[in-house]
Amino acid sequence: MAGSDSLERSNPTKQALNWGRTYLMCPPDYFGVFYEINPWMHTQVAPDRDLAHKQWDNLVANIKQAGGIVQTMEAVDGLPDLVFTANAGLVNGRTFIPSQFKFPERQPEVIYNNAWFRAHDFEVVEFSHDPHLYFEGCGDAFMVHGQLVAGYGFRTELGAHAVLAKQLGVPFHSIHLIDDRLYHLDISFCPLDERHALVAPDVWHHSSAEDILQFIPEPLVLELDEALAFSANSIVVGNTVIMPHCPTRVERILHKWGYEVCVSPVTEFLKAGGGVRCLTLALDVTYP
Ligand code: ARG
Repeated sequence: MAGSDSLERSNPTKQALNWGRTYLMCPPDYFGVFYEINPWMHTQVAPDRDLAHKQWDNLVANIKQAGGIVQTMEAVDGLPDLVFTANAGLVNGRTFIPSQFKFPERQPEVIYNNAWFRAHDFEVVEFSHDPHLYFEGCGDAFMVHGQLVAGYGFRTELGAHAVLAKQLGVPFHSIHLIDDRLYHLDISFCPLDERHALVAPDVWHHSSAEDILQFIPEPLVLELDEALAFSANSIVVGNTVIMPHCPTRVERILHKWGYEVCVSPVTEFLKAGGGVRCLTLALDVTYP
């Protein structure tokens, strides 16, 4: 019935995700754009180091203000993209599954990521012995309804999804990314709670879009320009959606769903093709 449906839509009972309170981050001490591995990176457009530090500090403060916990790892000279901890790998309880980066520029990050996780009492378990089975961590993988939702097309290999899902012991959904500007899944997808997610199906192959739009009960569909402004590269901490950018239209809907919106500018990191989600790795994820 239309009446009860609209009532339900304006008063949704949302069930929070059971992860996303604790994040690993890495300060931008050696951040910069020194190579080009995605369409946003131009070595001649250098990020402002001081501003990057301010934006990163501000993001940490915003996460804490929303009730989150931030743990940090040390930056490493020569590894400018180590700030994007989302790509380090995937946490499942006390197990850490490291990424297998596609580009040689990022491959040396693995040693430092693994060292951090070992030092913090995680067991490091590689998911494959084939180094060409690329997997770029939580940039391309989310837990939704206890299942794995993973992206492929530019970085992570489709073949990695089944191997990972088997290791995690859960079903999986693959999203085929088709626009190289949104090369990781976390630029076109952000689960908000068990009902809602930000999605940009325009940059997905139509069969993936169909599947996910069935899987997510109430998606907030972003226009292409909203997605290109990294609106989906956001995190949810408690009741707050922390976003690099939030179009008024999107803010209105998030408010209606009972969320607070916190815009945390990350302009300097966008020059490397990363936003709020990319700068954080959820440490409190346990697959069922
Ligand atoms: N410059 C980095 C790269 O191209 C940016 C990574 C962004 N991370 C993300 N989770 N989307 O690999």
